[in-house]
Formats: sequence, C-alpha cells, structure tokens
Amino acid sequence: MSGYHFLFVPGPSNVPAAVQQAIHCPMEDHRNPTIPDLITPLLDDLKKVLLTKKGKVVFFPSSGTGCWEAALQSTLNIGDTVLGASFGQFSMLWLDMCERLQFKTIVMDEEWGTGANLENYHKHLSEDKNHKIKAVLVCQNETATGVKSDVKAVRKILDDLNHPALLMVDGVSSVASYEFRMDDWGVDCVVSGSQKGFMMPAGLGILGLSEKAIEAMKTSNYPTCYFDVADMIEKTDGGFLPYTPPVNLLRGFRVALDLIFEEGLENIWKRHFRLAEGTRKAIVDGWGLKLCAKEKKWYSDTVSAIVVPEGTDAVPVISTAFHKYNLALGAGLSKVAGKVFRIGHLGDLNELMLCGAISGAEMAMLDNGIKVEPGSGVAAASKYWLANPSGG
Ligand SMILES: Cc1ncc(COP(=O)(O)O)c(C=O)c1O
Repeated sequence: MSGYHFLFVPGPSNVPAAVQQAIHCPMEDHRNPTIPDLITPLLDDLKKVLLTKKGKVVFFPSSGTGCWEAALQSTLNIGDTVLGASFGQFSMLWLDMCERLQFKTIVMDEEWGTGANLENYHKHLSEDKNHKIKAVLVCQNETATGVKSDVKAVRKILDDLNHPALLMVDGVSSVASYEFRMDDWGVDCVVSGSQKGFMMPAGLGILGLSEKAIEAMKTSNYPTCYFDVADMIEKTDGGFLPYTPPVNLLRGFRVALDLIFEEGLENIWKRHFRLAEGTRKAIVDGWGLKLCAKEKKWYSDTVSAIVVPEGTDAVPVISTAFHKYNLALGAGLSKVAGKVFRIGHLGDLNELMLCGAISGAEMAMLDNGIKVEPGSGVAAASKYWLANPSGG
C-alpha cells in the first residue's frame, strides 16, 4: 500500500527516525570495555525519567510482563498476600500472574471503564490489622479501557494506615508520557516497557525499585533465575548485564532518552494531555460517541477506547482501517472485544498525525455503517488544538 502506515495502537508507538538509525548499527562485543559507557548513563538517566534519586533502576531484555514477574518474585516471599484492583485486561493479567505464581491474591473487581477504587483499597488495607498484605498493586494506566488511576492516593492510604506493604505500580503505558513520580509518591516497584512512552521497539522491560524494595529483596525466599534483580543490580553496577544485552536496542535507547530530555518531561506530559484532549473532543463532540472511561477523572492521556454504538461491531472497523486506510487501531480486548476500538496517542506524535488517525477511524466507521458526520472528528479536534496551542 502506498503512503505511510499510520500506527495508532497504544504501543508499540512510533519510533523516531533518529532512534531507528541508532539501532541500525553493526553488532558488537557485548563485553567490550566501552559497554559500561553505554549502560551506566542509561540507568542513571532512567532514574531521571522515573523521578527517583533514592531508588535503583534495572532493565531486562524482556517486555513489561517480565518486569511484572521480576518485581513480585524478587521482593516477596513464597505464598505472600497481594492486593490489587482489576478493571481491564492488563490490571487483570498482573493479578492473574500473582495467582499463577501462587501468591495469595486479593482481587478487587471493578467495572471496566473505571479505575482503582480508593475506598476498596482503604477497606482491605484497614481490615488487614496483622499486615498480611505484603504488596499493593496499582495499574496507573489501563491500556485496554483508556483509564488512569491515582497512584499518589493509594500511597496516602498506605501511609495514613501505617501499612508497610510495598506499593507496586504498572507504569507500562504511562511512564515517560504522563506524570509519574517514583520518590514523591513512595512507589516501591514500578514496571515499564520500551515500546510506548519511551518511543522504542519492544524488547526492554524497565523496573524501578525503592530502597525499601531493595531491602525486601534481601529476605525474599522466592526462587528466581533469569529475572533475579539482585544478580542484575550486581552486574549493572559494573556496567554490564548478567547475560547478552540487546546492545542495538540500548544504542537506540540512548537516543530516545536524549530526545526525552531535549523536550523535557513536563513538556511531554503537557503534550500528551493536549493530544489526548483533542482526540477526546473528536470522539465526544465530533462523532457523538462515548469513551469507555466512565468519568473525566479516569480519562487516560495515552489511549482512548471508543465505544461503538449498540448493535454495531468494532472488529470490522479495525479491519477496514487496516486494509483500506493503512491505519492500525487498537482492538477491544477480552470483555470489551467488539465493543470498542482504541486510538493510542502516546510517544512520538503530533496533532497532524492524530488528524490522520481520527480521519481514518471516521472513514472506517462510515464504511461499516456507523453514522458519524464526515470530517466532524478532525473539526472538533482541530478546534480544540487551535484554541489551545502547544506552549500556550
Ligand atoms: C498497562 C500495561 N501493562 C502491561 C502490559 C504488558 O506489557 P508487555 O506487552 O510489554 O509485556 C501492557 C501491554 O500493552 C500494558 O499496556
């Protein structure tokens, strides 16, 4: 198909040309003496993105899921109790992993389209007088439904109750895109991946650990091997990895982090809000459709899940967008399969790229009998962006 492919799934996101070029380099000896010059500054710079001075950061040649596992296995003991809310595919899967790893898992099921219910966290933690709960899990951005949750408020609940559980956050589709503050919010473990806000291909799992999490690692009796964080820290402290690192990806990561610092974290957060808000205007004001996120407080700045009208199916819309318009939209996952399609608005993108996605989604909906006004999405989004210019 001629023209650009429009990649608008909520990760992998678009990889900037400079990052692609950096990755496209000859293979090198991963134990050569210059490798620490690459790895050590990368880890230091990742701390700046996670906003931690006190914590440690490691990366694994894996995806985000690997770091979910690394966080749990490295800090907890066999059979420990964990608490978490399930309100979408990814928050659900992390808790499913806890069950499969045989942790006693307390799952708070919430309606899809809502996020972490603070009252329920409070209820379970206040009832846990003997501090059996050792870890509290929160998915900051539920990518399946386009819902964000208030991590800082969960920390406050733990502090108010003087509860010592570790606070573990899934930041796979929020870190490096919108506000996340590891030290200020008292996050003990944060998990992310290279393929979303970091504007990289998939292949690196990122894990931030607080001092408290590192202390917990010392007494953890859960067996680990590939995902042994202590081994990883020992090697990366010397500038290497315990096994073959994806050096090409790391060369790309260097450039991606430079781009992030060039733009500035807070500017990145603002840009993601503006782009998300314009997209929401297209969906709600332009098309007259609903977001899966039930209330404004849940709106995600990295992905919008759009509910198709009753009696219509999102699957052919996604298929038409892909085959006819060269546009990849995100599918509805599990409970919301066929009911929503998703537009990812994260990473390396701007208003005009989003106009292309909005326009393509609109045509694909019209092709499939969903009656939206041609041009209405782009009109509503551009009206918002005109009134709220970048830097304004
Ligand atoms: C919020 C969230 N958590 C976890 C994951 C799993 O990450 P990965 O696919 O990198 O293993 C994803 C993937 O999209 C995600 O969006």
